[in-house]
Amino acid sequence: DDPRRRDFINIAAVSFAGVGAVAIVLPLINQMNPSADVLAASTTEVDVSKIASGQAIKTSFRKQPLFVRNLTPKEIAEANAVDVGSLRDPQTLAERTKPGKENWLITLGVCTHLGCVPLGAGEGENKGPFGGYFCPCHGSAYDTAARIRQGPAPKNLVVPDYNFTSDTTVLVG
Ligand code: FES
Repeated sequence: DDPRRRDFINIAAVSFAGVGAVAIVLPLINQMNPSADVLAASTTEVDVSKIASGQAIKTSFRKQPLFVRNLTPKEIAEANAVDVGSLRDPQTLAERTKPGKENWLITLGVCTHLGCVPLGAGEGENKGPFGGYFCPCHGSAYDTAARIRQGPAPKNLVVPDYNFTSDTTVLVG
């Protein structure tokens, strides 16, 4: 049992992400290019049942990368051990997750510097010096709560609106 193989998951095998855009048919809407208001109303359902502790998937939400990560107890402890007042964008892990579901870290996969996709959610990717995500463009490093810790990015990775609609289903948006 190679421990490295627990760091990732095969997206194709386990990820179901459906875009639940409200299907109101309006004239002049090109379905290949949904208008901004239709896109803004779209939701994404993610089945997290196959994401084991320590694993993450990359999917998408409103055409942007979305990371869904199942934090280990150690990663949660690391996030909670940080002096929040010392952070550039002060937030606790609890403020970035749902009560009782603090292991589920759900963020956009968009660096808050200039928008590159950080590494750390995919197979064998570099999680950076703080164990969360690492942006290869200019070296921003995020911790296990996806908070900015080093490098030029001004803000934590964005946590979108979401809710658990079952123990293993997340509705994002
Ligand atoms: Fe991520 Fe610049 S875009 S560090």
